[in-house]
Amino acid sequence: MNRKKPFFMTMLATIMLVGLIAGCGNNSNNGGNKPASGNATNEPKTENAATEAPPAADKKLVVGFAQIGAESGWRDAETDSVKATFGEDPGFELKFSDAQQKQENQIKAIRTFIAQKVDAIGLAPVVESGWETVLKEAKDANIPVFLLDRGITKGNEDLYVSFIGSDFILEGQNAAKWMIEEFGTGAQVNIVQLEGTVGASAANDRKKGFEDAIAGEAGYKIVYSQTGEFTRAKGKEVMEAYLKKDKNIQVVYAHNDDMALGAIQAIEEAGLKPGTDIKIIGVDGIKAAFEAIAEGKMNVTVECNPLLGPQLKQAILDYKAGATLEKWIKSDEDVYFGQKAIDALPNRKY
Ligand code: AHR
Repeated sequence: MNRKKPFFMTMLATIMLVGLIAGCGNNSNNGGNKPASGNATNEPKTENAATEAPPAADKKLVVGFAQIGAESGWRDAETDSVKATFGEDPGFELKFSDAQQKQENQIKAIRTFIAQKVDAIGLAPVVESGWETVLKEAKDANIPVFLLDRGITKGNEDLYVSFIGSDFILEGQNAAKWMIEEFGTGAQVNIVQLEGTVGASAANDRKKGFEDAIAGEAGYKIVYSQTGEFTRAKGKEVMEAYLKKDKNIQVVYAHNDDMALGAIQAIEEAGLKPGTDIKIIGVDGIKAAFEAIAEGKMNVTVECNPLLGPQLKQAILDYKAGATLEKWIKSDEDVYFGQKAIDALPNRKY
C-alpha cells in the first residue's frame, strides 16, 4: 500500500497540471471576466483571470495603440496622454502607430500587433464602420481590444472589451442648448455647420445631437453643412468659400475647436467680427479655444476629454486582473463660455 502512494500522487499531480494548461488558451475578448468585487460565480473557469497565469513580476505588458493621426490639437493631446502614461510606467511597453487618417493603415497596424502577440490593443477608430474582420482576428488571437475616444458601428460590442470616451450626442445637444439660450426660442438664426471626418462617430453623433435638439425650433436653420475634416485649414477653406456666397449667418457650429478657429480666420478676412457678428461654437476645449473666447472671438467650447491614457491603462490592468469592465467608460465633461472660460484658462491641461 505504501509503495503505491507515490505513483498515485504523481498521476494526480499530472492530471491537475494538464487541466491547468488546457484552460490557459481559453481567454476571451469580452464578457465572462470575474466581477470586480470578486464575488464567487458559477461561471466556467475558462475565462480571463481564472485561467490566465498572472504575468511574471518582471514581464512588461505590451500594448499596441492604433492612433488616427494628428489632425487636431485634441488628437495631439490624446497621443501625448497615451505615450506619457505607458512610457512612464516600467510595467508596460507601448507600440504606437499613426495611421495618418487612413482606416487601412489602422487595420494594418492591428494585424501587426496581432502578429507581435501584444497583450492588449487600443484603437481610436477613424470611422465607425468596417472593423468586423480585423477585430474578429484580434478576438480569435485572444487579444483584448479597447476602443478609445471614437466608437464603431452598433451591434459589434462582442468585438471589444470597453469603449473609453465621451458622449458625442450629448456634446451636440449641449452646443445647441447654449445657442438656444443665447438667442432665445422663436429667434431666426442661420447656422453653418462644419462637420468632422465623414463617417467618424464624433462627427455623426455631434451632428445628430445638435440637429435633434433644434428640430422643434422652426427659426433655427442649418443653411450649410459641410465637412472640414476636423482640421483648422479645411475649416477655414470651407468657411471662406461659403462667405463668398452668403454672409447672412448668425452661428458657426464646428464639430471641433480647430475647425472653429479656422472659421474665425476666414470670418475676419471677410471683414466680419467673429464672436460678435457671427457666434462661434466649438467642441473639444483646447487651450487655443479658451484663448479665443478670452479675446472675444469665440463664444463657447463644449469640452471633450482627450487625456484618456490613464483610463486606458487602468482598464487594461483591471481586465488582466479579471474584473468585469463597463462596456462604456464615460468621460466627465463641461461646457465653457464667458467668464467661466476665462477663469478656467490658466489651468487648462491641453
Ligand atoms: O474623436 C474626437 C475628435 O477627433 C475631436 O473632437 C477632434 O478634435 C479629433 O480630431
